[in-house]
Amino acid sequence: MAMHPGGPSIIMKYAGKDASKLFNRLHPSNVIETFLDEAHVVGEIDMPPDSAISEEEIIAEKLRIENLKRLPKVNQIYNINDFEAVARAVLPPHAWAYYNGGSDDEVTMRENHYAFHKFFFLPKILVDVRNVDISTTMLGTKTSAPFYCSAAALAQLGHPDGELSISRGCGTEDVIQMISSTASYSFDEILDETKPGQSHWFQLYVKPDRKHSIEMLKKCAERNVKGIFVTVDTPMLGKREKDFKFRYGEDGPNDDDDPITSYDDPGLTWADIDAFKKVSDIPIAIKGVQRSEDVLLAVEHGVDAVVLSNHGGRQLDFSRAPVDVLAEVMPILRAKNLDKKIEIYIDGGIRRGTDVIKALCLGAKGVGLGRAFLYANSCYGEEGVKKAVQLLKHEIALNMKFMGVTKIEDLNSSMIEKRDSYGFHRDSIYDANYETMRPIGLKDIPTN
Ligand SMILES: Cc1cc2nc3c(=O)[nH]c(=O)nc-3n(C[C@H](O)[C@H](O)[C@H](O)COP(=O)(O)O)c2cc1C
Repeated sequence: MAMHPGGPSIIMKYAGKDASKLFNRLHPSNVIETFLDEAHVVGEIDMPPDSAISEEEIIAEKLRIENLKRLPKVNQIYNINDFEAVARAVLPPHAWAYYNGGSDDEVTMRENHYAFHKFFFLPKILVDVRNVDISTTMLGTKTSAPFYCSAAALAQLGHPDGELSISRGCGTEDVIQMISSTASYSFDEILDETKPGQSHWFQLYVKPDRKHSIEMLKKCAERNVKGIFVTVDTPMLGKREKDFKFRYGEDGPNDDDDPITSYDDPGLTWADIDAFKKVSDIPIAIKGVQRSEDVLLAVEHGVDAVVLSNHGGRQLDFSRAPVDVLAEVMPILRAKNLDKKIEIYIDGGIRRGTDVIKALCLGAKGVGLGRAFLYANSCYGEEGVKKAVQLLKHEIALNMKFMGVTKIEDLNSSMIEKRDSYGFHRDSIYDANYETMRPIGLKDIPTN
């Protein structure tokens, strides 16, 4: 119980009841066999089906089903922020809290997005832009666009098909999906969805027992995974208070609930990265790098790529926005002639084609999006994922024409400038979607 990422009280809350429905939304089908052996089976429960689901949960679910009938048509979605607005209306409240939340005061989460406002373009003119090609190569794999679907846990909280429909949508659109270590479907179930020519990456959370990680890496090689991304910014889970409020309910956590649960092994070091590199020939990337010195160390350790990322603002609040870190890192790599030795990716706050183009101008090989795909999938499943990809592709191609550029390789740092101050212009849809953090109120006095 002490190791359970959701805390012990949730286990006690549902113990002895049939919690299958709730459990299955949060865990892949093989989780029990993977982590518990047969000695842990103590017997059959004698309880009605779904007896763990409370009256309030049933009412909330009914309301959500009513709201789902009012979904706008997917063709009425014009940008990534629109998906977020719809997701906010139709997601179960605990799923919305888990997906949209960041850590502490969520300064970094918002900064990730708003930092893109510092960068402005210097487009070229009178270039023949009739044909624009936005395809590229990431970690040696050809792909139709310079972005990927980043690892995001628990996609089934938002949609019953979870990561499966994300995989289907990405497959149709030829976009790489990074499979999370904590996906709600199993690794094999997701890979079984692979379409011909489709590529997947795997995101690794490293547990204290390295045997499990090594086995996963071998499995990735067997299943033709094209990249391993070791997440390094989660020695513990961030303090995500919106999520805690749902997780612990009205009474707050019990004394034995530590909301700051351990996650990755806090003992993870560079030596582990060296060891993982030896397991297979699959390119290895580190996800969650936040300073130039660590990018240089990654080069020294022969890592193939890094993702400049702060986990979408869910870990260390007041981490810098990845786009700012990118603008710092690339000139240092270029000065040391190391920029061709490692691929640099960023994720966090990307919502527009222009955000993607800005990152590419600054020197990123590609960018990842987390919440955007969760929201699109939660609202519309596979159709939503395809639409999200199409919207981004369209925005990238259109804005490349405005930039006077026809190929990804032609975007460069001469086409972008950074302003010192920003924040004059607000994104109204982004701000409207932002769920503000509310101070605690007094308890209602029961009336009878
Ligand atoms: C709900 C949610 C779950 C996530 N789960 C994982 C995960 O399992 N592994 C991981 O490395 N990153 C995870 N991330 C971080 C994303 O991969 C990515 O770094 C981040 O979402 C990028 O920011 P964006 O959501 O603004 O695009 C998660 C992010 C969110 C929002």
